Amino acid sequence: MTFTYYGHSCFAITLPSGERLLFDPFITPNPLAVGIALDDITADYILLSHGHADHVADAVPLAKRTGALVICAWEVYQWLEKQGATNVRPMNTGGTWRAPFGTVQCVVAQHSSGLPDGTYGGNPMGFVVATSTGTCYYAGDTALTLDMQLIPRRYRLDAAILPIGDNFTMGVEDAIVAAEYVACSNIIGVHFDTFDLIRIDHEAAIASFAARGFTLRLPTVGATIPLLMD
Ligand code: NI
Ligand code: MN
Repeated sequence: MTFTYYGHSCFAITLPSGERLLFDPFITPNPLAVGIALDDITADYILLSHGHADHVADAVPLAKRTGALVICAWEVYQWLEKQGATNVRPMNTGGTWRAPFGTVQCVVAQHSSGLPDGTYGGNPMGFVVATSTGTCYYAGDTALTLDMQLIPRRYRLDAAILPIGDNFTMGVEDAIVAAEYVACSNIIGVHFDTFDLIRIDHEAAIASFAARGFTLRLPTVGATIPLLMD
């Protein structure tokens, strides 16, 4: 399984079978993603954690061009359908989809979820993606929440993708506790540096995680790295 970073909270997980799961597409408005060509991005599935513009900006054109199945909250599904993106599976927090590649469960995220035009976006979510080759958690945009403690009761995580930019989501200090709650030492940080309000000190963040026994990776935009660690 590989992780390709497109900046902010947009990334793709590529499974050994070649299937590609794209999360939270926000590329064309992202100044840090100028090197990424939207037309080059492929996806079989597009997962949207919530309705904020910095997670759905490029969702409609990508969904239409790729034909990927979009996974999102009920209210985001209704918004997408109005814009002609019709290959969508609506879900809601707590639900599990038995997908061709494994399972996807929508889990609690403590955040908000208005769509770019002001439409109500329902509940924000995180996702646990479980496959025969590995299991990972993407927290979406969230505060540290006790609900995270439920995740290791059901899953043994190989990787956790956590927001760490603070201000709109958890910062580093709380993300370290989140890593403890979900019982995973392999952490990839997202939702940092895109805007002035969420700029972080990379070296300090990595050192803080390391001091608690966790590995934090902060991929560069455009990079592809192994999702799992030995
Ligand atoms: Ni958000
Ligand atoms: Mn966000």
